[in-house]
Amino acid sequence: MGGIGKCYVQSLLKDGAKGISIWDVVDTQSESFLTELEAEFGKGKAIFLKVDLSDTKQIDEAYEKTVAHFDQLDIVVNNAGVIEEVDALKVASVNLVSVIHSTDLALFKYLPKYSKTGDASVINTGSIAGLAITDYVPAYGATKHAVIAYTRAIGSKGQFGFTKIRVMAICPGYTFTPITEQKIPEKFSRLVALGSKAEADKGQGPEVLGDALIKVLKEGKTGSIWLARGGVVKEFDFTASDESVAKQFDY
Ligand SMILES: NC(=O)c1ccc[n+]([C@@H]2O[C@H](COP(=O)([O-])OP(=O)(O)OC[C@H]3O[C@@H](n4cnc5c(N)ncnc54)[C@H](O)[C@@H]3O)[C@@H](O)[C@H]2O)c1
Repeated sequence: MGGIGKCYVQSLLKDGAKGISIWDVVDTQSESFLTELEAEFGKGKAIFLKVDLSDTKQIDEAYEKTVAHFDQLDIVVNNAGVIEEVDALKVASVNLVSVIHSTDLALFKYLPKYSKTGDASVINTGSIAGLAITDYVPAYGATKHAVIAYTRAIGSKGQFGFTKIRVMAICPGYTFTPITEQKIPEKFSRLVALGSKAEADKGQGPEVLGDALIKVLKEGKTGSIWLARGGVVKEFDFTASDESVAKQFDY
């Protein structure tokens, strides 16, 4: 289980979630994490499913197992990610295709049927690398730009008019978790020293994201994108860049 994912689970349970279905391809720490959760929040609050999100069939099965277990689903958080920059298909399938596939299932199949709160939501995980241009992780950055564009489109007011389900994204800045230790090829890592130094200086603990998730679930408008960087969580303002893009189509 990843650093931010664990904080998301803990924050949701602290905030009163009745139960959580945790999905990850790595199951080495799942038992100890479930034991930790049981000690803090009581029995049966969380289940763990070993799921490879790069395989859309496994995502379908995980949704089925989740609703079969809880018979309720109100919030979907798409959070898995890889950097590595070695296998383009893997980076794209984990970071982007799984998010699209899962959001689509959430919006058009499972949340309409299983949500009982009247305020169902989907939260996707972008990155500061999806807002700025990051030369040292070009493929990763491209998938995160796409996650943000997808979230703004599928969470648009027009879509919400039909789905009545909010879709938002949270973009972490540099956060101290194992993903920051993933090896990237030398052709890119030679840029890291220059590129990420300023961001690493603004590094934050993953608990910032746990708080961000609750804030965005409570306050976020559909289609909004939130930056959690250097311990500060705020909605990202696209107004100026949207206007300047629109101007370039004005001929
Ligand atoms: N840590 C940062 O600085 C940072 C910055 C911006 C965005 N993010 C994003 O935050 C999210 C969480 O990352 P993190 O920092 O907690 O990193 P992490 O490496 O601790 O967690 C990522 C998790 O994704 C899981 N995962 C990877 N491939 C998978 C697959 N095929 N199927 C299922 N699970 C898979 C990993 O096993 C791991 O538990 C990612 O989307 C990442 O891109 C992180």
